Amino acid sequence: MAKIKVGIIGLGSISEMHLASYENHQDVEIYAVCDINEERAREKAGKHHAKKFYTNYYDLLRDSEIEAVSICTWNNTHAEISIAALDAGKHVLIEKPLCKTVEEALNIQKAVKRSEQTLQVGFVRRFGTNTQVLKRFIDSGDIGDIYYAKASCIRALGNPGGWFADKERSGGGPLIDLGVHVIDMCWYLMGKPKLQSISGNAYHKLGNRSNIENKSYYKAADYDPYKNTVEDMANAVIRFENGASLMVDVSFTLHAREDTIAVSVFGDKGGAEIEPELQLITEKNNTILNTTPQIDALTFDFKTGFQHEIDHFISCVKGERETLCPVDDGIEMMRILTGIYESSEKREEVRLD
Ligand SMILES: NC(=O)c1ccc[n+]([C@@H]2O[C@H](COP(=O)([O-])OP(=O)(O)OC[C@H]3O[C@@H](n4cnc5c(N)ncnc54)[C@H](O)[C@@H]3O)[C@@H](O)[C@H]2O)c1
Repeated sequence: MAKIKVGIIGLGSISEMHLASYENHQDVEIYAVCDINEERAREKAGKHHAKKFYTNYYDLLRDSEIEAVSICTWNNTHAEISIAALDAGKHVLIEKPLCKTVEEALNIQKAVKRSEQTLQVGFVRRFGTNTQVLKRFIDSGDIGDIYYAKASCIRALGNPGGWFADKERSGGGPLIDLGVHVIDMCWYLMGKPKLQSISGNAYHKLGNRSNIENKSYYKAADYDPYKNTVEDMANAVIRFENGASLMVDVSFTLHAREDTIAVSVFGDKGGAEIEPELQLITEKNNTILNTTPQIDALTFDFKTGFQHEIDHFISCVKGERETLCPVDDGIEMMRILTGIYESSEKREEVRLD
């Protein structure tokens, strides 16, 4: 069988996870890569043995050999590139967040409908072993009805700067960068309930704290200590039509003791912590039990998570299944993220039903 030829657009940090996972897939050929930075495009093409490299994504999309693309560019280009790719007849794996606004998301949905290609949103945490194992317990009824979930991802110090800190290019700060993952994990495990309302707060209190010394953290290539237009922390309570609620808090920086990630769901038969480690909590013979599954990784394992995501995408490209992360889910996530910002600006709860 001929290999599926893929192109990767945007060749920064996260593209390495896509490239490595495609390389591991026996039915895939990394055929072309593209970045506005020509040096980067040439280097990645050499490293990953791609036949072609481009600096303009339109040229890559015109290449009829290519069946599917991964889009790993800044968030402000996601809508434009994914619509162009779908209209060029390519299947699309688009990094999270789907885009910057609900309007853009709806335009992507229209392109998906008219092209009839697969568009998979990069909700990679859904493919983590810990999430998938828990989903099986939830689907078999062990947790009961989930009525409450909690998603927290706190960095004491970790505004990456560069495009991440430029609201124009990113669409927002920790909420859109980190919040999207933990909110989606909860929403997905809760059974994707319909949104009702959101009460959120976004704070610009501490800036990027580029003054801090003796503590290192990841910085984007184009880091500039003087440029930062995104919030440093956000929190929210999200209400769903079925009565369930989700509480979230995320930060790029906060006067917190340490970095933490904590994601939990609570049902009427049991509960579960997904992060920092999968743990199930139940009740039996009038005793409360904490159960730790024996699995390779209790926390999110990046390498396995991305491999499962890419394997799933390729299987969809082959027409073997429907994607687990369709555009509709990307739209709902954009409604949540932008709803939190809107509620914060208005200083009141916003209705989304
Ligand atoms: N799934 C995850 O866990 C995860 C982790 C990190 C980043 N991301 C997402 O991946 C995307 C990229 O993030 P990153 O950390 O790799 O950023 P990055 O800055 O390291 O890389 C982005 C690359 O895109 C290129 N680019 C920008 N506009 C382009 C265009 N129009 N055409 C071609 N190339 C273009 C840039 O030159 C750069 O090389 C973002 O949407 C981010 O939210 C996802």
